Amino acid sequence: MTDIKELLLSRIRDVSDYPEPGVMFKDITPLLADPAAFTALTDALAEITGRTGATKIVGLEARGFILGAPVAVRAGVGFIPVRKAGKLPGATLRQAYDLEYGSAEIEVHAEDLTGGDRVLVVDDVLATGGTAEASLELIRRAGAQVAGVAVLMELAFLNGRARLEPALDGAPLEALLTV
Ligand code: PRP
Ligand code: MG
Repeated sequence: MTDIKELLLSRIRDVSDYPEPGVMFKDITPLLADPAAFTALTDALAEITGRTGATKIVGLEARGFILGAPVAVRAGVGFIPVRKAGKLPGATLRQAYDLEYGSAEIEVHAEDLTGGDRVLVVDDVLATGGTAEASLELIRRAGAQVAGVAVLMELAFLNGRARLEPALDGAPLEALLTV
């Protein structure tokens, strides 16, 4: 494992039985509190932004906001929030996706994405892939191109990568850590 991967992994706290029994929660707050680790993460995601030719970062509420916004500033591209439904005041595109029990909806301001944009989606965790998949639908429905998806951590046992593959349509899924 490289030094940066070891640093990032060492700052992620496993919390068992949260938010419900049997679930191991990956808490990134120790990483955010460590400036060396947060800077290393931001730099790594900014490098992916440049490599994929992205012109915009989409951050997924809420933890994707924390990671995506500094990446956009570092990479010199715009930041677009994809929010849980009902939080954006303007004209939105809305996309539903399945959760383990029930469903949820996310939204983006339609005017923030245009045909000329190449968009990199940034989030902390890829679990089932449902949230990221819905965000890729929004990006395409807005007429923009998908540059890829970049996450701090991929939970491989949930097979989110396979679920996401059709929506990626050849664009890369970059995970800094696979657990
Ligand atoms: C978590 C995580 C990812 C998503 C991954 O967000 O931050 O965004 O779940 O799950 P999936 O791949 O199965 O869709 P969540 O909405 O639970 O919490 P947050 O608002 O703190 O980001
Ligand atoms: Mg989230």
